[in-house]
Amino acid sequence: MKNIAVFTSGGDAPGMNACIRAVVRAGIYYGLNVYGIVRGYAGMISGDIRKLESHSVSNIIQRGGTILKSARCEEFKTKEGRAKAYEQIRKHEIDGLVAIGGNGTFTGAQIFYEEYGIPTVGAPGTIDNDLYGTDYTIGFDTAVNTALDAIDKIRDTADSHDRVFFIEVMGRDSGYIALRSGIGGGAELVMIPERPNSIERVIETLRSGKFNSKTSSIVIVAEGEQIGNANSVAHQVRQELSELDIRVTTLGHIQRGGSPTALDRIIASRMGVAAVEGLLEGKKNVMAGIINNEIIYTPFIDTITKKKPLLQDLLRMLPILRI
Ligand code: F6P
Repeated sequence: MKNIAVFTSGGDAPGMNACIRAVVRAGIYYGLNVYGIVRGYAGMISGDIRKLESHSVSNIIQRGGTILKSARCEEFKTKEGRAKAYEQIRKHEIDGLVAIGGNGTFTGAQIFYEEYGIPTVGAPGTIDNDLYGTDYTIGFDTAVNTALDAIDKIRDTADSHDRVFFIEVMGRDSGYIALRSGIGGGAELVMIPERPNSIERVIETLRSGKFNSKTSSIVIVAEGEQIGNANSVAHQVRQELSELDIRVTTLGHIQRGGSPTALDRIIASRMGVAAVEGLLEGKKNVMAGIINNEIIYTPFIDTITKKKPLLQDLLRMLPILRI
């Protein structure tokens, strides 16, 4: 193997830059030429591919976003799109790829290998933490801390005005950010897609909070919650508990930005180095994750199809901590 390329794809996540840096530096350390593909699969198709040197990744470890930019690319889902991408990969004589991204990114890499035989090793980059095969994904810890900071601020004003706040956090199909920020932020209730909810249960919990003489409450709603988003849940609760003064805040994309936490920088660096080492050992179509503090390579197919279990212990604690 002589030439490898790195790219970021899907939703960006704080720590992706630290991972790019690790891939570039590890590649150079092991005597490889390292290229950067701009805008993920879109740049692979258009040929936006540049050689990266050690200094190209100086002073980025602390920066959010991704210097390689990111995109969700529809064209790569087509055979014609992938043929164009292969043409560019061949032209640059790239013999291995490092993909930093989530489910969609690894699905694309798996299909690309089946069609053209280009080996890819992935690093899990998504704030959602919804990938099987790793305890943490790059960006998750930063997103939780950003959400926590917002929850703490909202708690101040909720308390001053004796209000109930419904706070929506990101997580398209996953309750990881909601659960962790809910426990860390002292929420009364956390609503996540992995656990069936009912509006009756929400109403009952808020009612019992009143009996326990709570004057303000925080409810965290994951974006992917089945019974509705934070606005719709709040609307339904208002119908039944008109005496409550309810407000809604959607945190949105602030969770995707900002300087990565120490944890995110360190796991991103470890995963980036492990991805390059994996390629050099002949690994393909696997993700370099961290389980129990050890690097573990998990086949893409498992990261895509297997559901990562939620931390039952956190779920179990919620009713204990809200009395
Ligand atoms: O996958 C990460 C994520 O932030 C999800 O939590 C969210 O649903 C989605 O991306 C938003 O994507 P976009 O920025 O493309 O709207």
